[in-house]
Amino acid sequence: MRRPMVAGNWKMHGTRASVVTLIEGLTQQVLPADVDVAVFPSALHLAQVVDGLVGKAVAVGAQDCATQAEQGALTGEVAASQLQDLQCSLVLVGHSERRSLLGEGDEVVVRKFAAAQSSGLQPVLCVGETLGQRQAGQTLSVVAGQVAAVIDALGVAVFARAVIAYEPVWAIGTGLTATPEQAQEVHAAIRAQLAAKDAQLANEVRILYGGSVKAVSAAELFGMPDIDGGLVGGASLNADEFGAICRAAGN
Ligand code: PGA
Repeated sequence: MRRPMVAGNWKMHGTRASVVTLIEGLTQQVLPADVDVAVFPSALHLAQVVDGLVGKAVAVGAQDCATQAEQGALTGEVAASQLQDLQCSLVLVGHSERRSLLGEGDEVVVRKFAAAQSSGLQPVLCVGETLGQRQAGQTLSVVAGQVAAVIDALGVAVFARAVIAYEPVWAIGTGLTATPEQAQEVHAAIRAQLAAKDAQLANEVRILYGGSVKAVSAAELFGMPDIDGGLVGGASLNADEFGAICRAAGN
């Protein structure tokens, strides 16, 4: 059985004071023992969150890393090895906001994925189609292409130490959630794509759904056979709501 994961992507939100409040709220949550819970604060607040969550079973991840794993002369960037030194264990790669607003293509995403793993971090590879692509019937080919970019460059075995997040771009921050059936179709296709190369690995890799997940919609989504938890944006900024989503992923 795959162990569910619920991850909170705080995006470019937070001040020192609001992060204190959010940490306090998280430490008060009753979190299910059979779910991996993680939060992804902004790079500015990573150290504060790592320190604030000591003793709480919540992993901390970064929202991005440099394409080069080791520290060096690269102004403004953060190396995966530095994140590892800070006790981060995960990093998002290929989030659609970075793909579409910051021009990150598959080649850069693949390099970040590799940099993360070479520093011992688990990449969370984000994939998903735009509304136009869905309406044009291209959903499965777009997502398959984003997954294939990693497989072709690094080999399928890298997914033994990674998580995939399917996030339809049209559902992110819009309040529009994919139906459980829409999400399940894509999750099953991703798993089949991996299974064509390595059936056991495909059965073990966790595929999270992201896109306007709320406590009210979480249980039904997480009940689908190939949905192994969620990547939660807006709702993760509210500790009670996020805690409820985590509990929805438990058994
Ligand atoms: P959302 O964001 O839950 O606010 O839609 C999800 C994400 O972008 O990871």
